[in-house]
Amino acid sequence: MSAARAPRPFVIAVDGPAASGKGTMARRLAAHYGLPYLDTGLLYRMVARAMLDAGHDIRDAEAAAQIVESFDEAAFPEERLRGREIGEAASVVAAVPAVRAGLLARQRRFASQPGGAVLDGRDIGTVICPDAPAKLFVTATPEVRAARRHKELIGRGEAVPFDGILADIRRRDARDSGRSDAPLKAADDAVTLDTSALTVEEALAAAIGIIETRRAA
Ligand code: CDP
Repeated sequence: MSAARAPRPFVIAVDGPAASGKGTMARRLAAHYGLPYLDTGLLYRMVARAMLDAGHDIRDAEAAAQIVESFDEAAFPEERLRGREIGEAASVVAAVPAVRAGLLARQRRFASQPGGAVLDGRDIGTVICPDAPAKLFVTATPEVRAARRHKELIGRGEAVPFDGILADIRRRDARDSGRSDAPLKAADDAVTLDTSALTVEEALAAAIGIIETRRAA
């Protein structure tokens, strides 16, 4: 008698540009489906934080390659990772191929948990979990994303002009989309969800609708 085949883990890949709402969406989807959640942007932010803490130039690719081999996730509470400066620095270290390679295994390990997982980032559907059965590419206009990030930073006590945030978003889009290793782009089999005119609840309902269609397929 052959053993029953274990069901394939149900992985939901959520990709998209900075401040597109993908983090909120991924967290809510994880709660909805009872799956563990990994914000992969935090890993790049940890590498950037460790670089800055050690006094390295953020563009020093060799130092970043060494740090990615040795950094301790537990040493970086989330409040040290969310600031404006760290988002920018993370996108610089994220363009270093050795950094991406160094973070690949732990993301795949997380995704291969028995029941599945929700991961959000830039390359989950294209590189980390190309076989994920459900892939969303969450986006919004640069102006809407800048307004969301502006509100978030003000809530954290970082007073920054809106125009500066919009410039950050555009620069980060260009860097994340233009890098040669795992550039930000929708996987061929991802469904794009533009949240510019949607509330969080509307976007979540749309995402669940897309995922249920995939699950039924
Ligand atoms: O929250 P926000 O969208 O601003 O950024 P994040 O998701 O925390 O990611 C910070 C930076 O890490 C991004 O600008 C990307 O350059 C990089 N990143 C990446 O390259 N691949 C991922 N899977 C996640 C983040």
